[in-house]
Amino acid sequence: MAPSNPGTALITGATAGIGATFAHHLARAGQDLVLVARDGERLDAVAAELTGRHSIKATTLVADLTTDEGLAAVERVLREQRIDLLVNNAGLSLNKSFLRSTLEEEMQLMRLNVLAVLHLTDAALPAMLARGSGEIINVSSVSGFAATMPGSTYPASKAWVTSFSEAVGMASRSRGVRVMALCPGFTRTEFHQRAGISTGKMPDFLWLQADDVVEAALRDLRKGKLVSVPSVRYKVAVTALKLTPRSLLHRFSARGASRLGRTVGDSQ
Ligand SMILES: NC(=O)c1ccc[n+]([C@@H]2O[C@H](COP(=O)([O-])OP(=O)(O)OC[C@H]3O[C@@H](n4cnc5c(N)ncnc54)[C@H](OP(=O)(O)O)[C@@H]3O)[C@@H](O)[C@H]2O)c1
Repeated sequence: MAPSNPGTALITGATAGIGATFAHHLARAGQDLVLVARDGERLDAVAAELTGRHSIKATTLVADLTTDEGLAAVERVLREQRIDLLVNNAGLSLNKSFLRSTLEEEMQLMRLNVLAVLHLTDAALPAMLARGSGEIINVSSVSGFAATMPGSTYPASKAWVTSFSEAVGMASRSRGVRVMALCPGFTRTEFHQRAGISTGKMPDFLWLQADDVVEAALRDLRKGKLVSVPSVRYKVAVTALKLTPRSLLHRFSARGASRLGRTVGDSQ
């Protein structure tokens, strides 16, 4: 699916999973890229592959978005270069309950999942509004629709991303700028392995492919949606989450967590 805006896209977390998949889809559609992640070698390999396969330019920016310096480096690019599509994709989860985690671990999660999205949207938006065109996809999660993982603060961070994107998207759409929250369900990437989350007991039907997630996101962005939930099964799940009484949801969540071998309040 071609992006609705030609030009340059900046993608955070572009070396793996959903971010790398965005890079492949956008490069195939002829969009130039600025690729951001911490691992420089991996970034160079992705850039070389994409420029070798497609006639696009891909530049790389090594930045740790949990640090002030890393964030400032990406903000600088967004303020100084024309960026037509920003994909705020990099994110992490802790495999720990708030009852066990340290404040520093929680701050890492907040810096990457929330503050980086805030800073980079703030850096990209003024030029987009001034031009009357531009697009921002903030990668959130279906988990942000309700706190269904006892002890985990990840859903709270994603609830912020979804709500923030909807609010900014409502305000900017009349000025030609699209802002959309992308809310995938479980997607096969490196995400769970990085967090040390065991996925062995999760049924196959829960899993999405990153290609399908990105296809749906670009389609929904073009339609002007504020929130994109890829796949029929997760659309149904989100509707159920919204309709189920909170007390019932809390009971189901506690049971679900123990069935997956997780101790309530002890692990994510
Ligand atoms: N996979 C799922 O089931 C799922 C479901 C719903 C939502 N999501 C969301 O989707 C987004 C992408 O997740 P994914 O599953 O594609 O993850 P992934 O496969 O683990 O990839 C994460 C990417 O982010 C980069 N990254 C990690 N920490 C970073 C940091 N501090 N600064 C800059 N870049 C960083 C990684 O590269 P480096 O390590 O080189 O920095 C990598 O390119 C996240 O926001 C996640 O919350 C994922």
